Order: sequence, then C-alpha cells, then structure tokens
Amino acid sequence: MQTHEIRERFINHYVKAGHTEVPSASLILEDPDLLFVNAGMVPFKPYFLGQQNPPFPNGTATSIQKCVRTLDIEEVGITTRHNTFFQMAGNFSFGQYFKEGAITHAWSLLTDSVEDGGFGLDKDRLWVTVYLDDDEAAQIWHEKIGLPEERIQRLGMADNYWSMGVPGPCGPCSEIYYDRGEAYGEYGGPVVDDTRYIELWNLVFMQNERGKGIGKDDFEILGPLPKKNIDTGMGVERIACILQGVDNVYETDLLAPVIKVAEELTGATYGRSEKLAEDDPEYAAAHTDDIRFRVIADHSRTGLMLILDGVTPGNEGRGYILRRLLRRIIRSARLLGATGHTMERFMDTVRETMTPSYPEIADAWERIRAVAVGEETAFLKTLESGTRLFEDAAAQVKASGSTVLGGDAAFTLHDTHGFPIDLTVEMAAESGLTVDTEGFDARMAEQKARAKADNRAKKHGHADVSVYRPFVDNQPTSFLGYGSTEAEGRIIGLVRDGALVDRAAEGSQVQVILDQTPFYAESGGQLADRGTIAGPGGVAQVEDVQKTGKKVWLHDVTVTGGELAVGDSVEATVDHTWRHKARQAHSGTHLIHAALRQVLGPTAVQAGSMNRPGYLRFDFNYGEQLTDDQIHRIEAIANEAVDTDYTVNTIETSLDEAKAMGAMALFGENYGAQVRVVEIGGPFSMELCGGTHVAHSSQIGPVTVLGESSVGSGVRRIEAYTGTESFQYLSGLHRMSDTVASQLRIPTAELPERVESMSSRLKEAEKRIEQFRSAELTAKVGDYVLESVDLDGVRFVAARVPDGTAAGDLRTIANDAKGRFGADAAVVVFAAADPDSGKVPFIVAVTTAAQDLGLSAGALVKAFAPAVGGRGGGKAAMAQGSGSDATGIEAGFGIVREAVAGRGTGK
Ligand code: ALA
Repeated sequence: MQTHEIRERFINHYVKAGHTEVPSASLILEDPDLLFVNAGMVPFKPYFLGQQNPPFPNGTATSIQKCVRTLDIEEVGITTRHNTFFQMAGNFSFGQYFKEGAITHAWSLLTDSVEDGGFGLDKDRLWVTVYLDDDEAAQIWHEKIGLPEERIQRLGMADNYWSMGVPGPCGPCSEIYYDRGEAYGEYGGPVVDDTRYIELWNLVFMQNERGKGIGKDDFEILGPLPKKNIDTGMGVERIACILQGVDNVYETDLLAPVIKVAEELTGATYGRSEKLAEDDPEYAAAHTDDIRFRVIADHSRTGLMLILDGVTPGNEGRGYILRRLLRRIIRSARLLGATGHTMERFMDTVRETMTPSYPEIADAWERIRAVAVGEETAFLKTLESGTRLFEDAAAQVKASGSTVLGGDAAFTLHDTHGFPIDLTVEMAAESGLTVDTEGFDARMAEQKARAKADNRAKKHGHADVSVYRPFVDNQPTSFLGYGSTEAEGRIIGLVRDGALVDRAAEGSQVQVILDQTPFYAESGGQLADRGTIAGPGGVAQVEDVQKTGKKVWLHDVTVTGGELAVGDSVEATVDHTWRHKARQAHSGTHLIHAALRQVLGPTAVQAGSMNRPGYLRFDFNYGEQLTDDQIHRIEAIANEAVDTDYTVNTIETSLDEAKAMGAMALFGENYGAQVRVVEIGGPFSMELCGGTHVAHSSQIGPVTVLGESSVGSGVRRIEAYTGTESFQYLSGLHRMSDTVASQLRIPTAELPERVESMSSRLKEAEKRIEQFRSAELTAKVGDYVLESVDLDGVRFVAARVPDGTAAGDLRTIANDAKGRFGADAAVVVFAAADPDSGKVPFIVAVTTAAQDLGLSAGALVKAFAPAVGGRGGGKAAMAQGSGSDATGIEAGFGIVREAVAGRGTGK
C-alpha cells in the first residue's frame, strides 16, 4: 500500500467517526521552545492547555502533521530507524472520548480488513505497553479488545509517559507495537526487544500539565489540565514499512527512489554491508557507504520539506540546520564518488515521491530548486576555497617541521569556512599529516558550552505567561486601530515583572492591558504604535505593544506622571505622526513586494520584512545579486503605483477564498480561518496582511530604494525610505553632490564625468610613482653590491631596503644583486619594514658557487627569521619569509653573517 493511500485511509477512518480534518501546520510554528514542529499535537497545544476553545464541531480532530526532529543528526543512517523528517498521523479529543475511545478507534483501523478501509494487520502480531500503574488502560486492552494479558506490558516514565520535552500538556500513554517475526530478534514483546517489536502508534492520555525539568522522566507535574484529552501519533513511515513488506523506511516508496538516484550519480552500490559478515574486511567500508546513502535520502527529503515551509540556509537556528542537512548531502555524495552537482536530481526525486501527499510542492518547486542548488553551488565553492586554506595550513605545519595539524586550525576551517572535520582529517591523511582531533573536540565543546549558556539565558528571559492566561481566555482585547487612532478604554490588568499589580506609580515600567485599544501591536513585520495612555490619575508613554496568545494586547509603558490603576477609564492615543508614517512604510512594503515580483518573477518569495515609520526592509529568496537596472525598475514601478493613486481596500474573508483571489501569503505564517486581504490597485498587489495601511497609494509619498544586499545564502534584502524620510534622504544626497561640485568648481551635472577623469588620472599617477620607485630600487642594488664584504671567499651583502618595499620587489632586487656577482660565491640578504601592515618581509639569495660551498638560502632564511619574530622557507638558491619585529633586522643580519663566515648553516 502506497504511503499516499495510508494517509487517506487514516483520515477517512477518523472523519467517518466525526473528527474534523485539519491540514498539517507549517513545520515552523512560532513557539519559542521549539525549533520545528516535532509532534502532531503541537498545533493543538492551546486547546489541550485550555487556553483556547477547540474550533471543531465535535471537539475532535484528525491530522497528518509534518514533523522534523534534528536533535541527533549524526545518528541518521547509522541505523535505519532515525529519520529527521516524518509524518505523524493523529487523532485528538479535547474533553470528549478518553482512553477507551482512543484504543478502540486505533485498534479497528489497524486490524479492520483492507476491504473495510483498515490496514488489515494480523491481530496476533500486535502487542501493547501501558504506563506502570495504568490499570484502566490495561483492562480496556484485555477486556474490550481481547488482547491476551501477556501481550500487555508495563513500562515506566521514560517510555510510557509523554510530554513535549518542554512545559506543556503531558500524560501517561499506551503504545502499540507490531511483531516483525523471529528473523528480527528475540521473542518477548517490546520490553525485551524493540527492534523485532516495532512501535507503530502512541496513544497519549493527555491529562496533566508539565512544568520545568529535564528530559523524559525528570520534571515537575504542575497539576491536571482543565479536561481529559487524547493525543495520538501513528508513524506513517513505520506503518508504510509493514504494509509494503520492507525492512525499513529507506526501502519504502518514499525514500528508495532517492537512494536509486544516488547510486546512479555516484556509481556506488547501496546495501552491500547487509550481505557481508561484520568481521569481513570489507564490511566497515561498505557500512560507511550505506550510511552515506541513507544520509542523502533522509536529508534530501527533510531539506525539501523545510524549504517548502520557507526556511532558507543560514548560520543560525533553523537556517543552520537546513544548511547542515544540505551540506551533509553534498559531502556524502562526493564521498560516494559523485563529482559534479547532484542536488537538483535528489530534490527532484523527493518532489516526485512527496507531491502526491503535498501538492503545494509543485507550486513552490522553482523556489525549492533554486534554494537547494544555490546552497550546493556555494558549498562547492567553500570546498574549493577551504581546500586552498587547508593547503596553506598544511604547508605551514610542514614548514615548522611538524606532522600534526593543530586543533585550532581544524576548528577555524570548520567554524569559519564550514569545512567539515572529517574532510580535514581525510585531506590531512592524504598529505601525510594527522589532525589534533582532541584539540578540535575541545574547541567544539567550548563552543557548545557557550551556545548552551546562551540558550539557557534566553530561556530564563522568557516570561512566565500564565499571568496572562485569564485574559487570553476571558478578556481578549478588542482592537479598534484599523478605524481610529484614539479610543477610550479601561485598564483591566497591570503586570510588573511578570506579576499582576493593582497600580503603577510615576517612573514605573509596566504592561497595561486594556479592554479595547487603538494601538497596533507588533506583527507582520510592522513595529508597534507609540503614543500615550492617560487616566484620571496619571499618564504613561507607550513604548512597545506586543500580543500574547494572539488575543491580548500588552502595552509596555513608562508612567510619566501620576499613577495608573486597574479599573481606570483611560484615553488611549496613538501618536498620529507615528501611525501616519507607519502606514506609509507598510503600504510601501507591499508596493516593493509587488514590483519585485514583476521584475524578478514568482520565485522571489518573501522571506521576512520589517517596517517602521518612514523605513522598510524586505527580505526575499533569490539566488543572485540584483543588477542596478533591476533595482531601478523596482523603484520605478513602486513610484508609478504611488502616482497612480490606487485605492487601498481591505477585505475580510476565508483563507481559501483569499488564496483563490490570488492573495500572497507568507510561508510559515499560521493564518486563522478568517483572514484579512489588503489590496492595492486590484491585481497590482494583494496580500494577506493584518497591518495598518494608507487609504490611497499616493499617501505613501516617494519610495526610495537605498540598496540591495545579501542576508545569508539565497536571501536578499531591499531597504527603502517612504514619505518625508524619502524626501529628506534625497535632499541630503542632492546637497552633498552640490557641495562636492562646488568644491571642484563645476556644475553638478558634470560630476560623474569629472570623477571618472580624476580617478583615471590618479591611477596613471600611481603607476608612474611605482615605476620611479622600482627604478630607484634597482639603482640602489648597485650600491648594495658595492658595499659587499668578503667573508673568507664569499661575498656578503646585507641591507635594510626602504620601508614599504613589498615582498615581490625584494625578490626582484635580490635576483638582480645575485646576478651581479656572476660566477662568484655570494650571499645576499635584504629586509624591509612595512609601516602600514607592521610586517617585515625578508629574503636570502645564494649564488650557485656559494651553494657549492654548502650554503643554502632556505636554511639561512630560517636562521634569520626568529630575529624578526617571523617564519620563512624556500629553496637553496632563494628563500623568503615574513616577520613582525623590525627592530630585530640588524641582529638577524648578524646571525646570517656569522653563519656564512663559519659556513655554519648549510642544507
Ligand atoms: N504526541 C505523541 C507523540 O509524539 C502522540 O508520540
């Protein structure tokens, strides 16, 4: 049975039983504790906690949620069990049916015949576990379902008590296992062997709230949830293995095709290790290959699904995870023998396997392809430049006479240049070196510890949100700000340092909760309004406004006079200019977005935006730098739209309707069932947006693009001013060019031409200076040679040449000087100081006759180097180096002279 059909059967089963089908949420729901959605219940968290009422007619729902777990990326492929992406099919009851309902629903789907819509599994192969003291669940399994007692096993907290790993809902659970048969291990149920008995489904009896604590079994239980709920999760990939009669997910219809393509592109063969005994000499290499294949398959799928949901490769957070996944694919493919680009084929194959279940992949395909291939191109470049850096580091190690590449160097390669350590080790081995991996590990551990400390600090910074809960449940703020900037309201809550207070005196900083407000809270990239809240006893400045639980507006204020108290009737007034300019900026953002898509095409998808009064910034996915011409066109289109004076309309409608209208939505954003569409000039710009906007496009004023830049691989940023800020900026530029022109005493219009001619004259002049300098140097060579002394048959010249002489010039004059000695035995040493860089380049040249006496430039340069705190090396005829301490030059000359006189430093 194909995965797509498994999914359909699951949903049909629960819809028939009255559940509302809920589409999978994006992988990147805004939850500060979670990097990615990692379980089917995550989008339903507020309903479990009783923060919001579930909007499902029967209080039950079913979904197949995309999940990503990336805690142990390194484990992927080592066994066949870890997957970073998986699909969790679940059914949820919010205060409706409980243990018995959950168990009977699951049992019938698993065991009903295929003709009846079930999965047709053999009842005798199913085993279950329940939590230690959960007699009720055990009894249902035995008495209602008829499962023999020996196939009902009990396990403790770590296995049979489920939570998200962070504060939230939790409860005991019961897991259903499938016996794969003797070939897979020992008899005895999941308690004995969880390879032979593979977990299919977890039924969680969600009834408590988890507090802080660590891991799966060491946390506080805060108390019961308002209601008893059900949360279940069936692994779609797991059941696919059983129903497709294969050993593991890599052999299912989802991943096997990717492995096939990897075989084709690399020339290697998958599955060799399974045919070999573990002590076979070829086993280790075959096993490593198999891991690489599985890494490619797993990561390609996860990578595609993350990009689909709007993640782009970056250096932190989600972006970093995606980058790691993509780079591991590329690296694995290369190690298996691929030489060129492979990413597009892998992604294309995943597209084919996943599109039946996720048709939206087809629409996003161009963007997905561009992001993935862009990262591949960048990484292949990194590999190339990293290889050069590696070679430099290796040469230094060798020059210093060592054979060990230091942990610091390996760490820098890894951390700064994204060069994986295993690659460094491998390349080191190829050039006869080893790597101080302990030193590397130590540096990595330091970095991890720092990151952990940062994370902890961030966590502690999270306010305890329970104080807001009663407001979220019972007193959501009504927002009046679309229509007005002033309103009367009542203070229904004051929060200081995370606790409710009754009053706030002058000078204090508190959060004010009003029953209704005209203040826009920061969202959708638009910063919050500023203004004042004035009550009978005092007044406060509003400095920020944030929403909690999407429903309650928290006004961050400083009380600037008198005091505020709960119960006060207040006048809430948004700073009019602020709001006016914020509107301009936000509507301006929509114009830029629309113009951008006209110029760059539909793959330039929004990746984020920020606007504040007078200024906007817009990030979008695009693989290349924009040309000046593209930027000008975008700016021109936006300003024409301003000039056209389009009417701006806002329409409240359903999400489906909005999409049908062609409104653009932001990836990863979680929209409710009712959405707001902002339309500027009909089809010109139509976006889902909750922001505040001008009424007519001409009110935006001029839009001036400041420039375009890169903010991470594949993401570009456009910045612009609107309204008065735009005018001020342009007027500033105007004044500046006038000033420069008047300094040059020319009309402003002639500036570009004049600057061009000045710069070419400057270049010409620099060239001439350079010629004079080198002529002067060459002239000096004669003097140096004349000053040579005889050291027992060897002519010796040592001179500090003019400051600023570059290494290349040193080489020229050293060659010249050497040449002037002809067939005589001679040694030439030159050194210079560069006052700008602080470097001290030096060189030693030795004529053939002197080499025959046993002298070597390479060795002499090494003798010189320490005197100026540097290093050097080279051949017997010529060797160069660089130091940093010019005061040691004379001493260095003395050392070389001694060596030549005593013929001490030969080869
Ligand atoms: N939430 C449960 C799990 O993820 C079903 O296992």
